[in-house]
Amino acid sequence: QAASALREERKKPVYNQDEEYVDMDWDNLGFGLTPADYMYVMKCSKDGEFTEGELTRFGNIQLSPSAGVLNYGQAIYEGTKAYRKENGKLLLFRPDHNAVRMQLGAERMLMPSPSVDQFVDAVKQTAFANKRWVPPSSKGSLYIRPLLMGTGPVLGLGPAPEYTFIVYASPVGNYFKEGTSALNLYVEEEDARAAPGGSGGVKSITNYAPVLKALSRAKSLGFSDVLYLDSVKKKYLEEASACNVFVVKGRTISTPATNGTILEGITRKSVMEIAVDQGYQVVEKAVHVDEVMDADEVFCTGTAVGVAPVGTITYQDKRVEYETGDESVCKKLRSVLVGIQTGLVEDTKGWVTCI
Ligand code: COI
Repeated sequence: QAASALREERKKPVYNQDEEYVDMDWDNLGFGLTPADYMYVMKCSKDGEFTEGELTRFGNIQLSPSAGVLNYGQAIYEGTKAYRKENGKLLLFRPDHNAVRMQLGAERMLMPSPSVDQFVDAVKQTAFANKRWVPPSSKGSLYIRPLLMGTGPVLGLGPAPEYTFIVYASPVGNYFKEGTSALNLYVEEEDARAAPGGSGGVKSITNYAPVLKALSRAKSLGFSDVLYLDSVKKKYLEEASACNVFVVKGRTISTPATNGTILEGITRKSVMEIAVDQGYQVVEKAVHVDEVMDADEVFCTGTAVGVAPVGTITYQDKRVEYETGDESVCKKLRSVLVGIQTGLVEDTKGWVTCI
């Protein structure tokens, strides 16, 4: 009874819906959680059907201690952003691609998943209900986190009997404490992020805790993030803890081919398309670490990270510096992408959904 009273209470509007912005310091947004008012919750029944979801106030959820997600890590997540256009409308960037990626991840983790329409509708509803948390367009965006998890109880290893899809949101600015300045990366040789046949190619939650040790080791030495090498030969570039990686030499831009160990980033594929449009040669291949150390430029891409320049990479006892100036390839590609995402550059590709 208390739970159902709380559910009813959480459905009530929490603010004057006409208010344009919440009162917060938009100039100092980082990537910490500032929960927006509403989250979207949709349950999947035992027969694998996702039923009508609903918006509710952001808050804690109840889970059995034996929930599949807590014991065996059966969950995947997505990340997407809502941007505020200068005219006040909200823009979403390719949310249907997140929906499809969630479906592929769900298949790998033996989970049922929402349809593309259900996913996109949930993201739209979450963005719109939290409109006053979407920062002014030059200050940041609303990060939207769709999460699909096995919430039913299990004891022996097996798929959970019930699943929950939740979408919550938080206003964010730059992902790294460096802001828009260049990153300093460290090539990790001890720990691997993913192995052939594993789950590195999907956004399983199980890909993230195992990188924390290497990440924290690198951060304690002053680095921004870690670059992982392939787990077999330890010679080929994979990705960073939170983003994909690109290497520039002359007019050629290379990035590790997605072979099951590398996440198929939506920012990654968008940047590749923009680069081709601008006349660069874009190559997906196995990128040797020596090629990275010999590059003109290196940059990272991801939803949370955006398009971030890399200033230095340290590998074994060698530290290399890269070009990061206003004329860099990274800055040029970034300005087109951000322009499309925020409505300042015409979207000729149908990437942006206005709500
Ligand atoms: C994203 O870019 O949306 C991610 O999911 C990366 C995460 C580590 C913040």
